[in-house]
Amino acid sequence: MKVTWKLHDGREIVADVAAGTTLKDAGMANNVPHILGECGGCMSCATCHVVVDPEWGAAVGGPDDMENDILDTTEAPRQENSRLSCQITMSEALDGLKLLVPQG
Ligand code: FES
Repeated sequence: MKVTWKLHDGREIVADVAAGTTLKDAGMANNVPHILGECGGCMSCATCHVVVDPEWGAAVGGPDDMENDILDTTEAPRQENSRLSCQITMSEALDGLKLLVPQG
């Protein structure tokens, strides 16, 4: 299944991501800049911040309350579709997903 990370400078990184993989792990495995995942995915660092392409907002869904609080601590200001990519798990429904990577 394909995921595209759109970078601040216009470049795109496209990768095959297996179902069950978090998009934080997929981003790090594909050397996506600014996806650092410093806390390992335990939702305390906000260094896995991505902005979901508006077309994919409904499929991905919104953050829960705890994630919503952590999103207030991102280095780049949060946006309407901001998510922590450690909290998004790849599935068939997300094949073709596009994410924007805010400049950290
Ligand atoms: S990896 Fe730390 S909050 Fe996602």
